Amino acid sequence: MFASNLLSFLFLYGLIARVAYAGRVHFDNKPQVRVTTSFVNFYARIMDQWGDGGGKTWVISSDSSHPFVGRQFGGAKRTSIRGTNAFGSGYPYGVNDASTVAGRPFPFGVWPLWWPDDFMGSDEVGPHLDGIRPGGHISIVELKANKEEWSKSNDETFFALGDSQSLLSTLVSYVTWCHTSRVWPVRFDPRLQNATVKLENVLRYYRAGSFALAHPTYTNPSARNATSQGTTSLPDGIQNSRFWQCLDEITASALPIMNPPPDNRFWRVFPLVYRFTYWLMFIIGCAALYLLAITIAKLRDILWNCDLIVGDWMQARRESKAQTARDQRPPSPEYETYP
Ligand SMILES: *[C@@H]1O[C@H](CO)[C@@H](O)[C@H](O)[C@H]1NC(C)=O
Ligand SMILES: *[C@@H]1O[C@H](CO)[C@@H](O)[C@H](O)[C@H]1NC(C)=O
Repeated sequence: MFASNLLSFLFLYGLIARVAYAGRVHFDNKPQVRVTTSFVNFYARIMDQWGDGGGKTWVISSDSSHPFVGRQFGGAKRTSIRGTNAFGSGYPYGVNDASTVAGRPFPFGVWPLWWPDDFMGSDEVGPHLDGIRPGGHISIVELKANKEEWSKSNDETFFALGDSQSLLSTLVSYVTWCHTSRVWPVRFDPRLQNATVKLENVLRYYRAGSFALAHPTYTNPSARNATSQGTTSLPDGIQNSRFWQCLDEITASALPIMNPPPDNRFWRVFPLVYRFTYWLMFIIGCAALYLLAITIAKLRDILWNCDLIVGDWMQARRESKAQTARDQRPPSPEYETYP
């Protein structure tokens, strides 16, 4: 009984383990951004598209003279990815001074965007640091509703701003889910007089100010007010646009954000436990089969030799009865022994 219970437990465990583990197996080419902050080790952190984020924060160590030594990274969950139309909004933690982004941690793993004239202290992540900005330099891409899919006029044209890798990988999701026309991103410099998107055109910031969706005809009157909380209510034409709703939804769901730290011991030993269980089940299964074979062979012998065995048994019974009868006979008189 115990053995069969154990066997079924192990079987179920193996089955569940296989399913649970399959959830951890990443499909090939899953878009990821590596965030490296040290020259002396490979403890880079990974940002995953569609990832849930969360986990412990991580502090940039002082071993490599990184410009942001001591700054906290990561820990933010996807649920807090949306901000408002105010630069500096959407930080799940680390806002000591609402009027500046300088000195703040990087909750999702990436740095905020930067705007000209050191707006809200954003020069600290300015173009002089493009070489090490997580995900690469800031780019822009046009998001135009594909006419066949949306049957809308041409003014449904939004723009997405963000680091190059986040933008490229999210673009795949925009094209797949929101049927945007297929345009490649270009480098974005907000200092240019003819820059496609200005600070005032941003509809919403995402991922602690590191990504934005904008519309060139939209003007946020409070955009340059550093202490403004911003708003999420947009003009009706945009708010009610299904194309905008799709872009907003896909941005919030797909944008790569930082994974929890990798030192989750359970998931590291899990493949070992799984393999061990697999072999244990295999051995127990073999033993069970062997026992079954022996039992069947024994049963077969018993059945085939049934008549012999029963005959033997009856013979033995007859003899035993005769013996008993002999034993119970009264002792013979002596004269019979000695005639
Ligand atoms: C802005 O102007 C420069 C110089 O005239 C030009 O090279 C560039 O392509 C323009 N950029 C945009 C986004 O129009
Ligand atoms: C900036 O925003 C704050 C907070 O919403 C508000 O109190 C203040 O009056 C605004 N300043 C200007 C110049 O609009």
